[in-house]
Amino acid sequence: MTESDIITLSKPEKKLRFSAALDFSYRPPFEAIFAERVPVLQAFALAMANYSLLSSERRTFGLWGRVRRALSSPVKAPFRAVECGVYTGSSLVACAKMAYDAGLSFEMIGLDTFSGLPELSETDLRLAPAGAKYINTTLFADTTFDHVQSKLVERGLAGSVQLRQGLFSQTLPALPEQRYHFVNIDCDLYDPHLECLSYFYPRMVPGGIMFFDDYHSIDYPMAAHAINEFMQDKPEKLMHLRFGDDAANRTKCFFIKY
Ligand SMILES: C[S@@+](CC[C@H](N)C(=O)[O-])C[C@H]1O[C@@H](n2cnc3c(N)ncnc32)[C@H](O)[C@@H]1O
Repeated sequence: MTESDIITLSKPEKKLRFSAALDFSYRPPFEAIFAERVPVLQAFALAMANYSLLSSERRTFGLWGRVRRALSSPVKAPFRAVECGVYTGSSLVACAKMAYDAGLSFEMIGLDTFSGLPELSETDLRLAPAGAKYINTTLFADTTFDHVQSKLVERGLAGSVQLRQGLFSQTLPALPEQRYHFVNIDCDLYDPHLECLSYFYPRMVPGGIMFFDDYHSIDYPMAAHAINEFMQDKPEKLMHLRFGDDAANRTKCFFIKY
């Protein structure tokens, strides 16, 4: 360990600015597409606040405490977030932009096939509402890895956000072993929810947030089945964020990891 390691740990994050109120440049009335992003941004902001709180507690240690901490963890972990189900990158870019604007040291990963939903499982077929579009059509296929990557480059976010292409069953085992402060699960179907929950739940930091886009979805009831099944023996409670008056499709939920 060098002296600069200790200085880095004790140095205040000068640029970091965060307030519990969201700093939107938009003013109401919001367009629906923007309103839909509000719950995920609220949950993301809460995860950033929890991360900042934990790092400021670190700074309250005395000199010897800081030295001991530096010895056990010489590099301060950045805020780490992941999105499972990126499609064209709207929520990925919105969250990354929020972390960037807050001056946070952050790393984000976006996981997707970038060629649409995978084949439906028997559970999906059993639970899908009659006439659901995705039974006979591959939804979300009108995107590409390059399209989302170019959005990240245009917004100056490519250095902080990495995309991984493929089925979760292929990309999750290839991720580096690390802990996460925010996990956004937006992948509609039954097996993909269980794959992401099983992988990320044990890798979340205490105070980290897992957000579910589809828990209340009318079109994808299999999402809630998977989430309820996974969470039934876990201590965390789901919290629900409703926006607009189309109650079901416009309610999202999340939990804070114990
Ligand atoms: C509703 S879209 C995501 C929307 C996105 N978060 C946004 O802000 O617009 C769902 C995405 O999940 C992806 N997906 C679902 N199951 C997957 C799996 N097993 N592996 C990889 N991607 C998957 C689909 O390819 C699709 O792009």
